[in-house]
Order: sequence, then C-alpha cells, then structure tokens
Amino acid sequence: MGISQRIGEWTAAAAVCVTAVVSIASSGHGAPPERPDPVDRRAVRSLLAQYARPDSVPHPEDNRYTAERRALGKLLFFDARLSGTGDVSCASCHDPARSYGDGRARAVGVTRTTLGRRTPTVLNTAYAPALFWDGRAETLEQQALGPIEAAGEMGLPLPVMVRRMNAVAGYRARFAAAYGSDSITPALVAKAIAQFERTVNSTPAPFDRWAAGDDRAIEESAKRGFVLFNGKASCASCHGGWRFTDDSFHDIGVPGADSGRARVVPGVEVLEFAFKTPTLRNVVERAPYMHDGSERTLAEVVELYDRGGRARRASLSPFIKPLGLTRQEKDDLVAFLRTLSSRDTVSVPTHFPR
Ligand code: HEC
Ligand code: HEC
Repeated sequence: MGISQRIGEWTAAAAVCVTAVVSIASSGHGAPPERPDPVDRRAVRSLLAQYARPDSVPHPEDNRYTAERRALGKLLFFDARLSGTGDVSCASCHDPARSYGDGRARAVGVTRTTLGRRTPTVLNTAYAPALFWDGRAETLEQQALGPIEAAGEMGLPLPVMVRRMNAVAGYRARFAAAYGSDSITPALVAKAIAQFERTVNSTPAPFDRWAAGDDRAIEESAKRGFVLFNGKASCASCHGGWRFTDDSFHDIGVPGADSGRARVVPGVEVLEFAFKTPTLRNVVERAPYMHDGSERTLAEVVELYDRGGRARRASLSPFIKPLGLTRQEKDDLVAFLRTLSSRDTVSVPTHFPR
C-alpha cells in the first residue's frame, strides 16, 4: 500500500473520530472553562475502544518465539562485546531505566561522537511496521545489525563480530539450543536480538485501567485531556490506536535541516521534514522529545502544537494549526499523557556467556 494511500485512510478515520468527540463535548451545555463538566467514561466508550490493547505479540513465521531465543537475545542486547571498544551495548542507548531511550537530545556512540538524531524507544516495536525516525527499516531483524556495524554507534565490523562471538563457547551452546546451529552468523544474531525486542512491551497503564472501568484510575484533568486529545487538539489524527501512533510520517513543524522521510522516499512534498509518529506509551519517561530532542518537556511539546508548529513549511501537515488551547486545557493534555506510563520491570543480566 502506498504511503499517500495510507495517509488518506488515516485522515478519513481521524475525521470520523473527531466528529464523535465534538458531539460529546457539545452535549456538555457550555460550562465555564475553569469548571469543566466531569468526563463520563461511558459517554466516551467508543473512543476508548480504539485504544484497546491487543492480546498477543506478533512474532514472524521465520523467528517463532521460544524462551531460549528470548533469553539469548536479551544477553546480546546487554552485552558490550558487540561493540568495537567493548563498552557499548544496545542498552547503553536503549536503557530500560529510561524507557529504552537514553535521556539525551541526540545519541552518543562509541567514539563519543554525537549522532544526528535522538534515540527512540524500542518499547512496543514488535507492532511497528516501519523502524527508525524515517522508516528505513521494516523489521527488527533487518534493523539489528545496523547499529553494531555503524562506526559512530557500536563500531564493530560484522566479520569481527562473527569471529569474536564464535570464540565464546557459552554463546555457541546457546545458539545451538535456540536456533539449532552452533555456527554464529550475523543473521542469527539479528534474529535473537529481535526476539528479545518483541518482548519489550509496555504493560497496562492507569489509562488502560480507566478504559477498563476503574473511574478512579486517573484524575479528572487527565480525563478531560483524553477528550481534548481526540477532539479540539486533534492529536489522535496521528497518535491513534493503542500505541498512540499511526506508524506514518508527518511534518509537524519541528525546525531543522534534517529532511526525514524524504531521504528514503524523495520527491513527495508531504514527506519533506516528515518523521515517524512516535508512540506515546510511557512517554513521560523519555524527555527530551522529537527526533532531535529539541523539546525539553511535555508542556513544551503541547506549546508547539498550540502554536501550529514552530516552522511553517509547504510540507507542514494540514492537522497542524493553531489550536487556541487555554492554560487549563494544556495542563489537561499533559495530565493525560502522564497516565500512559506502565510500571515495567526487567532484570538486567550481570553474567554473560564465556
Ligand atoms: C549510540 C546509541 C545507540 C546504540 C548503541 C543503539 N541504538 Fe538503536 N537507535 C539509536 C538511534 C539514534 C536511533 C534512531 C536512528 C534514526 O532514526 O535514524 C535508533 C533506532 C533504533 C530502533 C528503531 C526504533 C523505532 O521506533 O523506530 C531500534 C529497534 C533499535 N535502535 C534497536 C537497537 C539495537 C538492537 C541495538 C544494539 C544492536 C541498538 N539499537 C543500539 C541509538 C542507538
Ligand atoms: C500531524 C500528525 C500529528 C499530530 C496532529 C500530533 N502529533 Fe505528536 N507527533 C507527530 C510526529 C510526526 C512526531 C515526531 C516529530 C519529530 O520528531 O520531528 C510527534 C511527536 C510527539 C511527541 C514527542 C514524543 C517523543 O517521543 O519524542 C509528543 C509528546 C506528541 N507528539 C504529542 C502530541 C499531542 C499531545 C498532540 C495534540 C496536541 C499531537 N502530538 C498531535 C505527529 C503528530
């Protein structure tokens, strides 16, 4: 399916959902903005249904889930021997304590060089049809070897990786148990890492508990924020669905020279300066924001949207326009975003195969 076709479909879907909210909001007989009506969960039930979490994780046919594979992939994800200098692992940048980001505006790799973009989370990427800010990889298997060989990231040429890994008897045994081959190849390393990443998923958050019927799971301000998110602020036009992303690419008016998706698909105006809509699950834990870390807080992000973007270009998405939000409405949106965080714990491996 073509990109423009996908954008078209989402636009249609978004229009339907915005209409639904406007009718809910206007049934609230003009209360003054400082004392808004309470939000009745039952009245927004059909909207909430659009954010229902799936029951299972999609694993591809040629890399079916097994406990051995996941355990192996987890070791590799945390093992700094996958870097040229031996001190950088995937988890150095995708740190579980920072919701699988690194807390920096732009990533810093083995050679201490600052990379061009901010580290996105690997949370819920099992469900993502396109990876990287510009969507240049389609599967986790395809993505995993990139950072290992990239000079600025982990800086380990794949032939060196293969020699180094095959010299570790403990890894050979684990690859044999997981994939039936004790000859460690780049393709198997990628499969194992991808397998672990598919198990890095956010668990139910306070928002989900509210959606499921617990009226006290989130505060009133956050409930109003949810209605704004789907209505007046039209955030859901792009951040729809349970991961709060349409998996598409938009120019939302973040200033800068990085042309984003246009590097991968040149010659389409709306893809200039367009970046992948990031998931908003656990987003409060991942400041600073955007592909370049240019917004420091969620309040700053809401300010950007309220102004209709900070950079006005021909490629700017038609959904980005001045919103006229009140102080209270901005606070409500931030309160809502804060309810999307789940408490996920992962044990970080301390012993690696020898
Ligand atoms: C030096 C920091 C750094 C290291 C180390 C690193 N990454 Fe990343 N990762 C990034 C950055 C920066 C991006 C975004 C690059 C872009 O979009 O152009 C990224 C993107 C990703 C994505 C795409 C996420 C999305 O939502 O699109 C995945 C998955 C990922 N990395 C997994 C890994 C794995 C697996 C490893 C280890 C083999 C790894 N990374 C090592 C910084 C790092
Ligand atoms: C036109 C589609 C679109 C709309 C509408 C939209 N967003 Fe976004 N959002 C994006 C894209 C694309 C990015 C990433 C842009 C970048 O990095 O340059 C983003 C980034 C964000 C981020 C930063 C997340 C991170 O990890 O960096 C937050 C928070 C956010 N949006 C919240 C909202 C809220 C709240 C609204 C409504 C006021 C909203 N968005 C409306 C597409 C959209």
